[in-house]
Amino acid sequence: MAVNLLPACFAALRATGDPRGDVRRFLLAAERPDTLRHVSRVAAAGRRLARRLGLPLGPVTLAAMAHDLAAVTPLSRILTTAEALGVPLSAADRAIPQVVHGAVAAAVLRQALGVDDAEVLNAVTYHTTLRAGASAVEQLVFVADKLAYDPTATALGYHPALWAARDTASLPDLCRLYLDWVVRECPALGWRLHPHLLAAWQALTPPRA
Ligand SMILES: [Fe+2]
Ligand SMILES: [Fe+2]
Repeated sequence: MAVNLLPACFAALRATGDPRGDVRRFLLAAERPDTLRHVSRVAAAGRRLARRLGLPLGPVTLAAMAHDLAAVTPLSRILTTAEALGVPLSAADRAIPQVVHGAVAAAVLRQALGVDDAEVLNAVTYHTTLRAGASAVEQLVFVADKLAYDPTATALGYHPALWAARDTASLPDLCRLYLDWVVRECPALGWRLHPHLLAAWQALTPPRA
């Protein structure tokens, strides 16, 4: 379903029936070469994981290419942009607006580019926090994003262990490698943890004997 008016930062987005190409052309037109490089690396990491794990390449590649589409939206405008797109926002989303760019990207992908594959939209939405009960594709895109980390990433202590495990560990174990690190390090990093992330971590962590 097309919307009449996209938020201004997405005005240059054009739907041609090839959403992956549309995202690429948009990021180039928006002069976001760093974001395009990052999402391309996430797509490559995602396809490598998908081949090993027998997951579909098409949804993984599209979700990876589109997950940071909202990099064009300044953090100061991410909540108003989300509201303009009709994205529901929880109190936690409003308190930690950094995570909302996933839901904004998914809304733009659906409304402007006509993508209606729930697997793709959920993987884009939850690439920032994951969630309890996440599908394999959601987990895969979450992990691929952390493997091919964003150029703006400020802490990468998890990366050597995640990189070393990428060709052998299960998806839940790869997610937990990152989540264990972020839960352990968040006080020192000054990061607030979103309830979705905590719920994902708890769901993936075996109970202590
Ligand atoms: Fe992101
Ligand atoms: Fe990313």
